[in-house]
Amino acid sequence: GKRVLITAGPTFEAIDAVRGIINLSSGKMGYAIASAASNAGATVTLIAGPVHLPKPAVQKFVSVTSAEQMLEAVKKEVDDCDIFISVAAVADYRPQTYEPQKIKKVNQPLTLELVPNPDILHYVAHLEKPPFCVGFAAETEKLDQYAQKKRQQKRLPLIVANLAQEAMGANESTLILFDDQGKHILPQAPKTELARQLIKHIGLLLEK
Ligand code: PMT
Repeated sequence: GKRVLITAGPTFEAIDAVRGIINLSSGKMGYAIASAASNAGATVTLIAGPVHLPKPAVQKFVSVTSAEQMLEAVKKEVDDCDIFISVAAVADYRPQTYEPQKIKKVNQPLTLELVPNPDILHYVAHLEKPPFCVGFAAETEKLDQYAQKKRQQKRLPLIVANLAQEAMGANESTLILFDDQGKHILPQAPKTELARQLIKHIGLLLEK
């Protein structure tokens, strides 16, 4: 069986001791893909941000909080994998400074300075010997156009596009796959079913 590395869920970027920035990803899509890959006979490592889901039956499970921690965890696991599926909704930015105490309220506007996070998928796809990389693209508009641009920029054999406002947190979704052969639509279905179809599609691409 193939060795598959998957990231899932949101990342949490701390502002102070009790606050941070997060997004609406539930982890459902990534967990469903981890289970589907495992059921298909793969050896699965799942790296997950903070989610509230039961742990799926995978060979290895790593829990992380921030994008930087997720990158470190991916670096540790990536050498041993054949396929990398980047389902996590990684925060593009994090607060520039972390305040270890709870920030006190004052009657003044408060500015939060953000700095870009490392792009984990870009890092993996640009390794000297990258695994087969599958990216996701969550967009609120111009789904096809933005997804194809991300596939090019991140140098991916396959990108999976979904509408962020429909996909995030939901049990069902619609996926649009872009690869060298073109565009394939996986019509609306439970994420567990979409995950099964996606794993099958990846298997077919790898046979070529
Ligand atoms: O978790 P659910 O509630 O089930 O929702 C599923 C989902 C909508 C989160 C999922 O299907 C999805 O689209 N995941 C990717 C979300 C995202 O961050 O997309 P993006 O278009 O911003 O990023 C493009 C790709 O680069 C993604 O594969 C992402 O994992 C990766 N990335 C992005 C930024 C970053 N710093 N590092 C990354 O690796």
